[in-house]
Amino acid sequence: MAADLITHILDDHELIRTRFSLVEDAGPDGREPLFRELVALLARHEAVESIVLHPTVHDHVPDGAKLADARRAEEQEAEERLAELEDMDASSDVFAAALAQLRDEVLTHAAAEERDVLPQLRQHIDATELRRLGDQYERLRAAAPTHPHPRSGQGTVSNLFGGPILGLVDRVRDALVDALGDPGDSRAPAASGGHAYEDWTVEQLQDRAAELDIDGRSSMATAELIAALRRQNANA
Ligand SMILES: [Fe+2]
Ligand SMILES: [Fe+2]
Repeated sequence: MAADLITHILDDHELIRTRFSLVEDAGPDGREPLFRELVALLARHEAVESIVLHPTVHDHVPDGAKLADARRAEEQEAEERLAELEDMDASSDVFAAALAQLRDEVLTHAAAEERDVLPQLRQHIDATELRRLGDQYERLRAAAPTHPHPRSGQGTVSNLFGGPILGLVDRVRDALVDALGDPGDSRAPAASGGHAYEDWTVEQLQDRAAELDIDGRSSMATAELIAALRRQNANA
């Protein structure tokens, strides 16, 4: 039987814990390439969660908006911490200390998802739907970039994925939505009513979201708006 959304997220969390240990165990001179891989993994995980997990929690779990917002805030903090590390020398003690702090924040965030969010999914979403969401998660995860490209200089990951770490999760998420269309709709994008939302301006997307009375629209990023509109169309 295919793994469901909860299993995929738990597996990813386990992988993240393991990768943090690998970076920390590598020692000053071996940290950097492993850290880059870790950043790629974190960006991919949070980007896919932002597409599949948070909107589902927001829409289908009691108090879901509050739960989803709390997790998003933790993810934003972790991304800011990651950004602090990006121009540090990976072999330095300062980097090691910041890395330890990042690990604590990320693992606390993962634990909060496991304690406060995943059981709610199990309770409020049926097994078939959780497996469908698991398939989406897997598809998006497989399409995400896994090999960051370091800037030519040593001791930095500033050029990861062609830009700064700050905003990286959004860039990965936008790239995934562009590449795969609406993950909330198992049909091909063209079959979902021909809505080429990617060609719309943010204002047009917001206007349409207002017409459809989509909750939380004003705080949504472009990709979230597009996903929410397509979900609404699919459910219509
Ligand atoms: Fe998360
Ligand atoms: Fe997570």
